[in-house]
Amino acid sequence: MLQSGFIQIYHKNTNAICAELNAGLLAPQACISPKFLYDGLGSKLFAAICELPEYYPTRTEALIFEQYRAEIARSTGRGSTLIDLGAGNCEKAASLFSALQPVQYVPVDISVDFLREAVECLRYRYPQIRVTALGMDFSSALELPDAVRSDKRLFFYPGSSIGNFTPEEAAAFLGRVRDACRADGGLLIGVDLIKDEGLLYEAYDDAIGLTAAFNLNMLQHLNRLLGTNFKPRDWRHVCQFNASESRIELHLEALRSVTVTWDDGERRFSQGERIHTENSYKYTPEKFLQLLERAGFAHVNRWSDPHGWFMLCHAQAV
Ligand code: AVI
Repeated sequence: MLQSGFIQIYHKNTNAICAELNAGLLAPQACISPKFLYDGLGSKLFAAICELPEYYPTRTEALIFEQYRAEIARSTGRGSTLIDLGAGNCEKAASLFSALQPVQYVPVDISVDFLREAVECLRYRYPQIRVTALGMDFSSALELPDAVRSDKRLFFYPGSSIGNFTPEEAAAFLGRVRDACRADGGLLIGVDLIKDEGLLYEAYDDAIGLTAAFNLNMLQHLNRLLGTNFKPRDWRHVCQFNASESRIELHLEALRSVTVTWDDGERRFSQGERIHTENSYKYTPEKFLQLLERAGFAHVNRWSDPHGWFMLCHAQAV
């Protein structure tokens, strides 16, 4: 077995987290970052959402990988340092190992315990690949430790996670990825495209309520992080399409008037008042290609499904 390791860069800064949550809850329009959807249970619920028939992004992207595996490998080249941003259970990257033959696999995730478990399984399944797992929050900075090889870096950002940033944040994030690519690197990224609203509503408000549970679970996470006394039964999951911003929005809506208290604060929510918990932007191919160019990427190869629901791009750092 090759030398492998787990490097934990992310250490919860409790003060900063509490300050961020406090500000979000007290804002005129309460708003909490979607990163707080992912505690241990949240990560498991998201993995389950990806298996839902309504949640088309995962299976559509998987179909694109399957159909264009050889072309994708020709575009990216083999033998890269594969850096998987937001790796989760690492399954998407693992499905590409045989085609891409990475020399080093670097799964990166903020959900440290979930990543640790995923990596344990992986090491036994792929003993020939050097795995260097990083427990870190890559959303605001992307400084990789020396243990990550610097040549032929291929960043992998599937699942349209880029859609959870605003377009301005996405441009800044892509710029940081571009800088971390070094000279001969690139990016393989999945992007969700604009489509019929009905399909979006089904995907983000599924029939068996997994997305609702994923959204409501954030309240339990906040109770643990900030000491709030949210009762999930007082709230409901709301999904709405904002056409002018081209994004699906998730909210939590108070079912009755509730007062939430915590150590440093208190807020009364009237019935119907909402906490904004996530945006999921949907792009046109042209808009997204512009974003890649703005960030300093070029020579983009792209693949899509027959419905044009989802797009996979490989872009080179120039
Ligand atoms: C992680 N991200 C790309 C998902 C999305 O589709 O925006 C998160 C998600 N939220 C609800 N369902 C899935």
